[in-house]
Amino acid sequence: MKRSPETEARGILLAGGTGSRLAPLTDQMSKHLLPVDETPMICYPLATLMQAGIRHILIISTPTHLAEYKKLLGSGETLGVNFEYAEQKHPEGLPQALTIGSAFMKSHPVVLMLGDNIFWGGSLIERLGTAIREPEGATLFAIEQPNAEQYGVVEFGGDGEILALSEKPKAPKSSWVITGAYVFDRHAAEFAAALAPSARGETEMTDLLECYRSRGLLRADCLEPKTRWFDAGTPKTLAAAAQAVGEARQAGNTFLGKPGRIASANGWIA
Ligand code: TTP
Repeated sequence: MKRSPETEARGILLAGGTGSRLAPLTDQMSKHLLPVDETPMICYPLATLMQAGIRHILIISTPTHLAEYKKLLGSGETLGVNFEYAEQKHPEGLPQALTIGSAFMKSHPVVLMLGDNIFWGGSLIERLGTAIREPEGATLFAIEQPNAEQYGVVEFGGDGEILALSEKPKAPKSSWVITGAYVFDRHAAEFAAALAPSARGETEMTDLLECYRSRGLLRADCLEPKTRWFDAGTPKTLAAAAQAVGEARQAGNTFLGKPGRIASANGWIA
């Protein structure tokens, strides 16, 4: 395997959680195995990681569902990648991905992707590559949304500096929301391990990002308006994502959610 910042970087796909907003679809089935147009939801963030050149990927899911991901994705050999698997015993928050993944990351940079986030159409792939090459710090990827109060929000100062991060604020001070793709340096696991749970009983991603911001080590990369982004975690957004993905495929995006095609295009498999 050729060495490059991308092949050295690790990927973590977080595919646990409860998926309560998609019940009863998720009463028996893991959210990230639900179909989005032609492929299971998890194939989309997986494809994004692979397009960014990442070949070592840890898949985290619940004790109930992890075996299903192993069955779907296997060792990764047929895709020219290496998959590892880990359980998140309880859904105690997104930052736990970094503590669970600490031995897997070692000192490598890591791209964390949430398993229900689907991106295409902009330059996220290139931006991930740039962020991976940063010697230290963390990068979040923000996008403008009209309903910012439903997400983590980034507030910028006049010079573009990050003033504050807030989780689902009632009155958002900006329309820039934090998407489910992040790049972290080797300190992420130790910062994540020290976080206290919020009032809702989970550790919060905004608190992990704040550990970097307060040290001057957080970058916010603002995605262009043409970037398509779906958090497919509700019945409405799942249906909208499937519809938009289907249209993008019709329009010629043959790589969307297709890890096998990306592996071939990357020259990882014959
Ligand atoms: P959410 O959509 O915030 O949570 P959820 O999937 O449990 O769904 P709901 O709110 O409807 O109950 O999670 C975002 C992503 O992160 C999703 O892909 C699931 C994953 N996740 C975990 O794997 N572990 C966790 O502890 C949490 C909170 C989320």
